[in-house]
Amino acid sequence: MITLNTLFHQLKENPVNWALLAVLAYVVRSYVSSAKAITVSPKHPEVMLFKTYNPKELRAFDGNADNGRILMAVNGSVYDVTRGRNFYGPGGPYGNFAGRDASRGLAKNSFDMDMLTDDDKPIDKLEDLNKDEWDSLREWEQHFANKYLLVGTLVENP
Ligand code: HEM
Repeated sequence: MITLNTLFHQLKENPVNWALLAVLAYVVRSYVSSAKAITVSPKHPEVMLFKTYNPKELRAFDGNADNGRILMAVNGSVYDVTRGRNFYGPGGPYGNFAGRDASRGLAKNSFDMDMLTDDDKPIDKLEDLNKDEWDSLREWEQHFANKYLLVGTLVENP
């Protein structure tokens, strides 16, 4: 067992041990200060509850609000795509899908505005899609399920 006495003795005997002790002190100090930086969070992240969204409610989440949140519906599921802000944020290449039901556009691989249903109209039933389009939509759905948080389901306006 190394006692404090032998530790001091060894430090006295071999000056290299002082250098090692200094390195150890530096490592411990930087570990402690980085741990502090991680645990002290200035603000609790916004809590997201799984809920239903109708097309009108969804529109509020197009990334332009103060909280910057972006939601997007895909085949009846609503995903929080905020971390894909570069794609869906204002001015992004797929910004047209932000706060909208993107199903038809994803099925047909098109971001034309006529792929979107007005938010005061019934939800697009996608009844006319062919097999390839359904396959495309399901593939996209898988992509979103793997990448983003599912936060709700799309329901009709009241
Ligand atoms: C001009 C042809 C296009 C090019 C060059 C292009 C390019 C890209 C690139 C580079 C990515 C990023 C892939 C990654 O990092 O995972 C991407 C993702 C994506 N693209 Fe396109 N794209 C094109 C057309 C389209 C069209 C027509 C749609 C319409 C549905 C579309 C929808 C998407 C979506 C939804 C994503 C996924 C974004 C995410 O992961 O959140 N793209 N595209």
